[in-house]
Amino acid sequence: MDHKTLKDLDRQYVMQTYGRFDVDIDHGSGATLYDLAGKEYIDFSSGIGVCSVGYCNPKWQAAIVEQAAKLGHISNLFYSQPYIQLAQQLCTRSGMSNVFFANGGGEANEGMIKLARKYSFDKYGKGRGTIITLRNSFHGRTITTLAATGQDVFHNYFFPFTDGFRYTEAGSMDSVQDVAGHDVCAVMLELVQGEGGVLPMEKEFIHDLAVLCAERDWLLLVDEVQTGVGRTGSLFAFQQYGIIPDAVSFAKGIAGGLPMSGVMANEKCRDVLTPGTHATTFGGNPVCAAAALAVLDILDEGTLAQVGEKGAYIRQSIESMDLPCLGGTRGLGMMIGVEVREGYTNKTLAAKLVENGLLVLTAGPALRLLPPLTITREEIDKGLAILRHTLA
Ligand SMILES: Cc1ncc(COP(=O)(O)O)c(C=O)c1O
Repeated sequence: MDHKTLKDLDRQYVMQTYGRFDVDIDHGSGATLYDLAGKEYIDFSSGIGVCSVGYCNPKWQAAIVEQAAKLGHISNLFYSQPYIQLAQQLCTRSGMSNVFFANGGGEANEGMIKLARKYSFDKYGKGRGTIITLRNSFHGRTITTLAATGQDVFHNYFFPFTDGFRYTEAGSMDSVQDVAGHDVCAVMLELVQGEGGVLPMEKEFIHDLAVLCAERDWLLLVDEVQTGVGRTGSLFAFQQYGIIPDAVSFAKGIAGGLPMSGVMANEKCRDVLTPGTHATTFGGNPVCAAAALAVLDILDEGTLAQVGEKGAYIRQSIESMDLPCLGGTRGLGMMIGVEVREGYTNKTLAAKLVENGLLVLTAGPALRLLPPLTITREEIDKGLAILRHTLA
């Protein structure tokens, strides 16, 4: 099939919910992708933070093939080895206590919201179900996670939204106190706001918030859908913030390209979700769990340490190019935001970069870079060279 036929069929048969780049992708290896016509692209996007170990990583591939040949799915009415081993690994490496597996980020956050409301109901009864979230946050596309998202632009069309969310300014404890009523059960936040523009939270604010949560018995819920699984240079970003959350959601990078997500709870919340209160048919799927075990194996301490180094190298290189359209960089590890100067738009710059063979993302008004965590120095340099000659 050629590119034009693909586009025509997409328009005819697929709901037009995505603004796609004018590119098709056929296959890839490492951080390099190829379209149907054989053109090469360096990937600084990882399928929006998903392909954590690059494309067709041999270890990842072998784990999937081996598991698919053994058992492709089994319901959660039975025990199976892959999801149990995965839960054990996640808890051992994060310090959290137990895990509920789901399929995507929005669904994981739904589970985390249910956990917080049930924790509060079990202990305090009705009327304490409000969750504080931050302005400019992003928590998903379900009706409830849209309501949790602190951006007015997402609170449209799909009324009525779920009640029980109150928004506060990131970085301001005064703003948190302004919305802190007796009906609050939790605070939910991203440690680096991803979709909002790659904005890392200040450590002092997060620390103060954790103290307030402990004082009021509010659960501290950390949405690590984008920051988790090595993206920021530690397995989870909270490990760099010196806090112990009550629950953590993760998704995107966990299974390296297969759909999987989950919620981890700490000891206090271990028994909140009980039989019959929460479930999902595909949660903990053996093939996805086997892929995730391979991802965790690849993301050992050495590889995680390189995430910070590679991220710093990319940021320094871009800043030293002194390009007319780009300002400073920000982020954590290989979650990088690049400021776009006035007179330019991130969407136009991204489209030019993609056309010239470098896949990048946008977030808020910025360019966003989420390369595969295993990207090589050679691939980084190739990508940076495209960036320089395209935007100079
Ligand atoms: C922080 C955060 N939470 C939740 C989501 C929603 O994840 P999904 O699209 O897998 O439902 C995203 C997706 O970008 C995200 O970045």
